[in-house]
Amino acid sequence: MSALSQKHLIAIKDLQKSDIELIFQTADTFKEVLQRPIKKVPSLRDITIANLFFEDSTRTRISFELAEKRLSADTINFSASGSSVKKGETLLDTVNNILAMKVDMIVMRHSSSGAQSFLSNHIKANIINAGDGTHEHPTQGLLDGYSVREKFGSLKGLNYLIIGDIKHSRVAGSDIPLMTKMGAKVKVCGPPTLIPKYIEEMGATYEPNLKKALEWCDVANVLRIQLERMDIKFIPSLREYSIFYGVNKDLLDSIKKDITIMHPGPINRGVELNSDVADSKQSIILQQVENGVAIRMAALYLLADRG
Ligand code: CP
Repeated sequence: MSALSQKHLIAIKDLQKSDIELIFQTADTFKEVLQRPIKKVPSLRDITIANLFFEDSTRTRISFELAEKRLSADTINFSASGSSVKKGETLLDTVNNILAMKVDMIVMRHSSSGAQSFLSNHIKANIINAGDGTHEHPTQGLLDGYSVREKFGSLKGLNYLIIGDIKHSRVAGSDIPLMTKMGAKVKVCGPPTLIPKYIEEMGATYEPNLKKALEWCDVANVLRIQLERMDIKFIPSLREYSIFYGVNKDLLDSIKKDITIMHPGPINRGVELNSDVADSKQSIILQQVENGVAIRMAALYLLADRG
């Protein structure tokens, strides 16, 4: 197969296994481009991409911008602060006005789950979801899967653990379907109040004890507690969370197993992950960030081909 089955990249749930394999293979080619002295190809020279960020971002926003520049696309960057959204303009009006200026593709982050899906029913341009509320963050799921594949050669048969605030995590929302589609087993660990009731329907199992969960896994992806998405208290305190669910070197040393540690960022050091693990040889956190550019180049390139 040489084309994606989808015109938009809204959710990993929508992708077939062959789509994910195609994105990984295309990212391999772009990763090789990114090692060259001139890290640029003309693939999207005639394409204009709008990066619409209605919510804060460091990694995803810069990674998409770099990916677009490496592919020679023209780009415009929009953030909700300082825009006419503040004057009451609707999302659809904002996007239609931007598209009227002959923009071909939209990369969008929004705090509302489903915002990109809604748009995809009303506009012709390709849309890439750069994170929607607590729903999905598909390019993060892809770069996580790609980084594990790079380390282990394949995702098939691996034990993949996600620790922390699963309930509010769009990273978990994309990682669980991606890892299970690619043949890994997924377990989640965290306080019961931060685990969705439908976790088994998502394809994962739940282990409340962190040490037992770590003993099971080959790879542990540690997530941040997303206080900004909580309108009520789900945990008594961050200090207590850190005592029961924080990952540190003493805990990993007690397991006597070389677990690979991941984190999507931003890290709250000393809460979910200590610096003695985040900055250790076990951590592939910065490789995840590096791989994000190649994965986003692959997604942009393949979707532009779908027109
Ligand atoms: N991983 C991630 O989405 O980070 P940002 O919020 O900085 O984009």
